[in-house]
Amino acid sequence: MSNFFSSSIGKKFLMSITGLFLVMFLFIHLSLNALLLIDDGGELFNAAAHFMATNPLIKIMEPFLALGFIIHIIWASTITLQNQKARGKDRYASGNKTPDVSWASKNMYILGITVFSFLVVHIAQFWVKFKITKELTPVDIDIAGVHTEVENAYALVNQTFSMLWVVIVYVVGSIGLAWHLSHGVWSALQTIGFSNTIWRKRWSVVGTVVAWFMGLGFSLIAILQYLFFQS
Ligand code: HEM
Repeated sequence: MSNFFSSSIGKKFLMSITGLFLVMFLFIHLSLNALLLIDDGGELFNAAAHFMATNPLIKIMEPFLALGFIIHIIWASTITLQNQKARGKDRYASGNKTPDVSWASKNMYILGITVFSFLVVHIAQFWVKFKITKELTPVDIDIAGVHTEVENAYALVNQTFSMLWVVIVYVVGSIGLAWHLSHGVWSALQTIGFSNTIWRKRWSVVGTVVAWFMGLGFSLIAILQYLFFQS
């Protein structure tokens, strides 16, 4: 078993599983963030953020999410380094001119670094302020008719998106994510073995749609918050 995970196909398999797990997280994350576009002063978003922060199941999932990111990043780096070593000088010769191979598939590591750089800024702006420095103020909201005091997550997110440079960083990060996933989702399904001659093309379309739905979704939230939700 340990031989399998240290083999080249084993590493790709683990990257695929962790990648698809991260895509599932992003779906939930995007759905909750879409609440930022409801014009209710952030009530629903705050209720959802409160639910996520207090739900024991979510708390159990958090370390797995972090582990998913760590494994995905470390394995991507080792595979890329190994491939570069194996190709030696030839890596420049094969280069970007290979026909029938998408730009994204040849630049997965660079796109991954773009998403990672975005994540560093993102975690510092939100997660650290939510969980470590606890910079949220309390606010009263109505949850199913019950007055409840929760943390005003909306105020922090809304204030963060009042800065143009932040919106630009989010758009660049989200487009990088879309490109990364446009090859990544398809490649992961292929590696796991879900693909055959008929489904190969179909999964490629599904992967592209999922990727750009997410990338454009996250970008739009940042842009619309900046343009229409500032008081
Ligand atoms: C409009 C875009 C986005 C908004 C408004 C947003 C908002 C947030 C907020 C408020 C948190 C803190 C939640 C908490 O700790 O309870 C958070 C955490 C996080 N976000 Fe985002 N996010 C966006 C895009 C993204 C993207 C594109 C990615 C991945 C590429 C991402 C990955 C994460 C991760 C990994 C965490 C920490 C996990 C957690 O504990 O919740 N986010 N985000």
